[in-house]
Amino acid sequence: MTCRILLLFILFILSSCVCAGSFVVNVTQSFYQAKENQSITLEWSFTTITGLSLNSLSVFCRLFTDVKAFVLLHVHQGVEVPESQDQHFAGRIQLDKDVLGEGRVRLHVSRLRTADSGLYTCDVHTSYGTDSGECRLLVSAARDRPESETTSGTSLRKDSQPESRGRIGLYCALGLTAALVLSLLVSAFQKLRICPKTCR
Ligand SMILES: *[C@@H]1O[C@H](CO)[C@@H](O)[C@H](O)[C@H]1NC(C)=O
Ligand SMILES: *[C@@H]1O[C@H](CO)[C@@H](O)[C@H](O)[C@H]1NC(C)=O
Repeated sequence: MTCRILLLFILFILSSCVCAGSFVVNVTQSFYQAKENQSITLEWSFTTITGLSLNSLSVFCRLFTDVKAFVLLHVHQGVEVPESQDQHFAGRIQLDKDVLGEGRVRLHVSRLRTADSGLYTCDVHTSYGTDSGECRLLVSAARDRPESETTSGTSLRKDSQPESRGRIGLYCALGLTAALVLSLLVSAFQKLRICPKTCR
């Protein structure tokens, strides 16, 4: 009796493992890098079945940053819900609807901002399973690096010249003072040594 229960329990565990494993959401790339104002295409793929109907498909994509979470995309039973989208992404997200039925969530994000950097996740709900996939995006500032480096370099050199001259002057003055004090001390010692003998 207990053996049968145990067997049923094992079978239940095994079947639930198989079911959970049959539906997956993958990312085509786990890390993306882009510059400010550029565009990027993020892509997730999910398990499809023959005769997949978009009506049974819901997709919820979010961006998680250190500060907060933003909703990029909400597809409810095959229909996009623009009201769900965060203002942060307004007019900057385009979903490729043609490939959604092929098991691809392809998102085109335009006019990237550095604040778009973070963890992107997409939850896909179907009648035959639910899963999510995540990827990271790093958007770097579009400032022209070499130019800013040369300008800061020249400004540094311009600044450092008078500064170093000033320092040399200061060291000279300090050195001279030290030498003067030392010579005064030496002569004072000599007088002290000589005085007791000569003055007596
Ligand atoms: C997900 O990735 C696994 C391992 O790379 C692969 O076997 C599977 O076919 C992929 N599934 C989809 C739907 O992309
Ligand atoms: C990004 O584009 C906006 C509008 O097109 C422009 O005003 C801004 O200067 C651009 N920023 C950079 C860093 O190129």
